[in-house]
Amino acid sequence: MNPGPLTEDASIAEFLGRIVASRDLELEWIDLLSQLEYVGCRKIMKSVGFESVNLEILRHVSEEASHAYLLKAVVEEGGLRDRSWRDGRFAEAGWRYFQGLDQRISALPASEGLHYPGVSWAIERRVLVVYPAYLKVTRNESLKKALRRILAQEERHGAQFGEVAFPDGYLPQVAAIEEALWPEFTAAASRLALQRV
Ligand SMILES: [Fe+2]
Ligand SMILES: [Fe+2]
Repeated sequence: MNPGPLTEDASIAEFLGRIVASRDLELEWIDLLSQLEYVGCRKIMKSVGFESVNLEILRHVSEEASHAYLLKAVVEEGGLRDRSWRDGRFAEAGWRYFQGLDQRISALPASEGLHYPGVSWAIERRVLVVYPAYLKVTRNESLKKALRRILAQEERHGAQFGEVAFPDGYLPQVAAIEEALWPEFTAAASRLALQRV
């Protein structure tokens, strides 16, 4: 049995509620999402060999790049201009989550040849619970507009990777890795949210 979609739980709502309570904090959060979309885009390019690139992969790359762009545009419109991701409040926690996911999934023996769809499946599954939950609580109108556009594409990506014929027993391992890393990430981000700058 393959793992089903993630469901929204109280911890996601509580975490996002804390983020949107402060305008500055929310801009930091949007900047992190932009960074993660960009990292996702790069990871696709790095994990798929030149000879295997097809129209569908190019579409995926271009859509993830556009998600990074749309979110960064909201950050700049909000007044956080020309700021490097290196200096983002949540940047390091976000890196740890994504790098950890990438490395642990790559280390699974069954990931041979499945790195790209495996990581993508895990990411889209998380995105499809976090973005709708975020859309419900944010009051940033530009963000809502961007997020609705992004979400329509993420739903298609989610469906696309949901149709990949992964070997039996593979996705439960991938899901377990992601579900262990996500709470570590939100715990770290929650601590950072409380810190004064
Ligand atoms: Fe995306
Ligand atoms: Fe996506």
